[in-house]
Amino acid sequence: MAAMPEELEGLVSAMTPPVVVQRVAMRDFYSGDIAGQPCVVVLSRIGKVAAAATTAILIETFNVKEIVFAGLAGGIHHAVQIGDIVVASHLIQHDLDARPLFDRYEIPMLGLSQFESDPTLSLAIFNHSSAYLSELPIENGGALPLKAAAGRRPQTHQGIIATGDVFVSDPDSGAEIRQRLPEVLCVEMEGAAMAQVCYEFGVPFAVMRVVSDHADHAAKDHFSDFLEKKARHYTCGVLLKFIASRARLWTSPGL
Ligand code: ADE
Repeated sequence: MAAMPEELEGLVSAMTPPVVVQRVAMRDFYSGDIAGQPCVVVLSRIGKVAAAATTAILIETFNVKEIVFAGLAGGIHHAVQIGDIVVASHLIQHDLDARPLFDRYEIPMLGLSQFESDPTLSLAIFNHSSAYLSELPIENGGALPLKAAAGRRPQTHQGIIATGDVFVSDPDSGAEIRQRLPEVLCVEMEGAAMAQVCYEFGVPFAVMRVVSDHADHAAKDHFSDFLEKKARHYTCGVLLKFIASRARLWTSPGL
């Protein structure tokens, strides 16, 4: 699942025909094999409600056994640069606040404020992300951020991702989230919503985010530039190898 068409095109193209397209709740779900593994690829659209609805349909209608969300994010932590990949260990909704009825960030009547992603899926995506970044031809500007520190290769991180129904694009908002949630690596608009639905259905999930901007005054321009020029290469570069590795796993004797 992804939020923007640019991120999904390569995955749909990589499906071995026939590809079946089913329209449910104004979304197109593409079903087919990628590297021998049956997959469903879908555009959630943007935001928590869109992600939650799409996740519920994937589970209930398409009976998927595990879900991966891939997309872009705004880097919040000082260690995270444009072009880096963040794999979620946990996800939190930075805009959820039902105080004084519940603690800040706590999901009412669930008793949780963070969701842990599946360690096995996340480790596999982390390893494929690291391999992808280490092989990038950065001398050609392949994935280098607009103002990359000289000689710094894009890196893969694992940690907390914060989700909210807001595109963080002014320095004050970014700094305010950083101050409230200092461990958060990046912000996006879907992950924790998908995570909550997966948790409630008991479906393993992982979230992979490529840092497109610094959630500041330049976020809109950096995001648009990254989406247009680089997002699809990252998504396909990492996820096609990840899916192939899942296919090998599922077809290994004894499993
Ligand atoms: N996705 C990519 N950049 C983002 C930002 N700055 N805020 C929220 N979601 C994003």
